[in-house]
Amino acid sequence: MVTQDHSQQSQFQSTAPTQAAGAASDSAPGPFTLPPLPYDADALAPHISAKTLEFHHGKHHKAYVDKANKLVAENKDADLNDTVIEHIVVRAARNPELTELFNNAAQAWNHSFFWQCLTPDGKKPTGALARKIDADLGGFEGFAKKFEDAATKQFGSGWAWLVMDCGKLKVIKTGNADMPLIHGQIPLLTLDVWEHAYYLDYQNRRPAYIKAVIQNLLNWEFAEANLEHALGKQGA
Ligand SMILES: [Fe+2]
Repeated sequence: MVTQDHSQQSQFQSTAPTQAAGAASDSAPGPFTLPPLPYDADALAPHISAKTLEFHHGKHHKAYVDKANKLVAENKDADLNDTVIEHIVVRAARNPELTELFNNAAQAWNHSFFWQCLTPDGKKPTGALARKIDADLGGFEGFAKKFEDAATKQFGSGWAWLVMDCGKLKVIKTGNADMPLIHGQIPLLTLDVWEHAYYLDYQNRRPAYIKAVIQNLLNWEFAEANLEHALGKQGA
């Protein structure tokens, strides 16, 4: 089953969950929550196994959420007293004394976004998004090559992204917890290339994981909803 929570409007794009309403979570209290996966844990197999998703979501993502909440609770800075987690992420990014908070807060956000970028019913982009990809990236094949390249060549842990930047689609990569929002870019899709995202299924074969996701699991409906929001903010 595939569901998306559109009830929480993010400042930066339309569909990423900032505070997942009704999330079944036993995370530490605070502004960050662990949203439920928008599909069954075995729904992405054989490309991503249930075991990988259960560890990735239930252990790794949960740890980022819990740590971010703990750090916010320990910090008395009034700037962090905010229920919009993007505000906390951006403020932490600008303050060198809050690097640990940024790393955990951004990873909490990145993973909530990432789950929605995947679907067991992956197709190809259509409509306005397909036309924009044709214009800016040389069509789906051009996108796939750039995205695969970014994800494969990200040295160490990080993320590949499809973003809107000054009205143009771009493919970028970021290291560790870094993310487009703090650089003024609006994310449409992402792929987690930390080893914890694929090692149980693919071991050292990161390129095989990347190819499998691009060809089978990307949620272009989610990307199109994000594009509509991005066009409203940045224009074409
Ligand atoms: Fe991850």
